[in-house]
Formats: sequence, C-alpha cells, structure tokens
Amino acid sequence: MRAWILDQFGGLDHLRLADAPDPSPGAGEVVLDLEFAALNPADRYLSQGQYPAAPPLPHVLGRDGIGTVSAVGSDVWRLTIGQRLVVLRGETGVSRWGTFAQRVAVETDSLVLPPEGWTLQQSAGAPLVYLTAYQALTQWGDLAPSMVLITGASGGVGVAALQLAKALGHGVVALSRDPDKRKALLTLGADHALDPTDPAWVAKLKESLGPRRVDLAIDNIGGALFTQVIETMGGGGRISVVGLLGGPVPQFNTAALFFRRLKIGGVAVGAYTRAEAHAAWDALLALMQRSGSKPLVDRVFAFDELPAAFDRLAAGPLGKVLLRIR
Ligand SMILES: NC(=O)c1ccc[n+]([C@@H]2O[C@H](COP(=O)([O-])OP(=O)(O)OC[C@H]3O[C@@H](n4cnc5c(N)ncnc54)[C@H](OP(=O)(O)O)[C@@H]3O)[C@@H](O)[C@H]2O)c1
Repeated sequence: MRAWILDQFGGLDHLRLADAPDPSPGAGEVVLDLEFAALNPADRYLSQGQYPAAPPLPHVLGRDGIGTVSAVGSDVWRLTIGQRLVVLRGETGVSRWGTFAQRVAVETDSLVLPPEGWTLQQSAGAPLVYLTAYQALTQWGDLAPSMVLITGASGGVGVAALQLAKALGHGVVALSRDPDKRKALLTLGADHALDPTDPAWVAKLKESLGPRRVDLAIDNIGGALFTQVIETMGGGGRISVVGLLGGPVPQFNTAALFFRRLKIGGVAVGAYTRAEAHAAWDALLALMQRSGSKPLVDRVFAFDELPAAFDRLAAGPLGKVLLRIR
C-alpha cells in the first residue's frame, strides 16, 4: 500500500509518501481500505515528539478515518468483508499505524457504523473532536442551561462543542479571530461571536451578557487568552482545558480562582475507556440527531496533498480538514 511514513520525530517535514507493507489483521482486528482520513493537531504534536506517546519508527499518523473491511482477523464475529466502518477511538495513529495510508488494521471494539444521514466525510472527521467536546461539556456532571464560552470555536473541537452545547440547551459565546468565521458561527447557533484579538472583547461580552457571566469555558487555545477567559467567568464557573494552540499560559494570579471558586479541569479524550467512548458516542449522536446538526467539513485534500492539508489546519479551518484516500 501507499502510506505517509514518519521516519523521525522533528515535525511534519519528516513525512514522506512511500510504499509500505499491507497490514494484516491480528486477533480481534479488521483491516479497513480507507476512503477518508481526518487531520488533528495531535498528529502534528506527535510528529514533533511532543506527545505522551512515542511510537516506534517508522510510524503512520492519523487518528480518524472511514473505510470498508477488506480482511478479518480471528475472533471477529459480527463484522464482514465490504462493511463500511468508522474509527471511533483507540491507539490508531498513536501507538499503532494510523489512517494516513491506504489501509489500516483496527481493533473491532474501536469501530462504529457510520451515523445515519451523515456523509462519509462527516463521519470520518467526527469521532475524535466530538468525543472531546462531549467530555469537555459533561465532565462536570449535568449542568443546568448555562452560558458556555468556546475558544478556537471554528476548529474541529470548537464546532463540535458549539453544536453539542446548543443541543444540550446552553447559550454559547464563540471566539474566532476571523470575521467570516464569526458570522458562520452565529449561523451555526452561537449566541455571541467575538474576536479574541480585540483588546475590548471581554468588556464587550460583559456588556452583552448584562448581569450574567460565563458558567463553563471550553478552552482550545490557552496562552494569554486563558487569563482573559477567567475574567468572563461567574462564581462557581468551570473551565474545561482542551488544547494549547496559543502556547503556555503566562503567569496569572490564583486569586482569580479562589474568590469566585472557579474550577479548572483537564480534558483527555484518550482517557475514555472503550465502554465510555461508545456510551459517549451514542449519547452525542442522539443529541445531534435531535438537533439536526451535522459535522462541518472545511476542506478535503487529495491523498498526496497531506502537507498542504496540515498547512490548512494550522491556518485555522472552519470544521474538519480531511484527506481523500480512495
Ligand atoms: N485534550 C484532548 O483530549 C484533545 C482532543 C482533541 C484536540 N485537542 C486539542 O484541542 C485544540 C483544538 O483542536 P482542534 O482539532 O479544534 O483544532 P483546529 O481544528 O486546528 O482548530 C482550532 C481553532 O483555533 C484557532 N487557532 C488556531 N491556532 C491558534 C492560535 N495560535 N491562537 C489562537 N487561536 C488559534 C483557529 O480559529 P480562528 O482562526 O477562527 O481563530 C482554529 O480554527 C488543539 O490544541 C488540540 O491538540 C485536545
């Protein structure tokens, strides 16, 4: 098969499209002939050696994808050749070879059927970001209808968090640096859309919210924005820390936390057990079906355009960036 091979850590420049051995399915595994794969910032971090996992090299990146079963290992009962399946979770693209390849071997309990009514592309790009957004929204238990602020709201996790928050009955404040994307986020259901590079955004938000404040922040960015997000929080507010695209958070005064009893909690989609991931997936699909929202595809690149697809992801997409494999 053809695959994007990572020969050494040090970044995406070390990826090359090459011939690689076809995977064969182990016990409890199937091989998928991939149709689409989706990109995630985690792929870049892993290529840079900035990820908890350091797989043996050469490695194939890619956490998300959809394809049809072309080989079945022993101890596989319900899956058959030709069946179309989506990678839900697991070690694919982390400690095992991933989806930036024509074929991938996946454990059967890490696979799900494509959601009804979704395109192949929507299905391929959804699992990692929707599970992450769901964990960020629900890790604090059931929240009464709340005001949810989302940083990096135009990205994969951001759009998922916006759609799921609205489906759960929350109000949403969406932050994006791009005016067109802010308009799109309002169309997707955000109640407020603000530019985090505007020095007055916190004051403008407080003015729009009146006496209300943010109850839950989902932070994909970190960096200097994190301390500004804290300023928008009401008493007892929670912050789900998802990502760090803006880099490390500069010093801040912890008094900002204790006077309002703010709680900060990390999100780790990989910490979902198999059973938890399947339960979360079923729950979030029910929410999406009830609200009628579908995942947003930003752009689809040809298989040999993976570096350009990563450039698009780094520039800031609106939804998911995908690779067409077959
Ligand atoms: N903890 C977990 O389990 C978990 C799981 C999945 C993802 N993540 C992390 O969550 C973060 C978001 O992931 P994603 O898939 O949503 O990423 P994404 O699709 O690349 O979107 C992120 C959005 O953030 C904005 N952005 C990008 N770089 C920025 C920067 N340097 N400063 C400020 N804003 C920036 C862009 O929006 P605008 O251009 O519109 O401003 C972009 O659309 C990443 O750090 C990722 O690694 C964590």
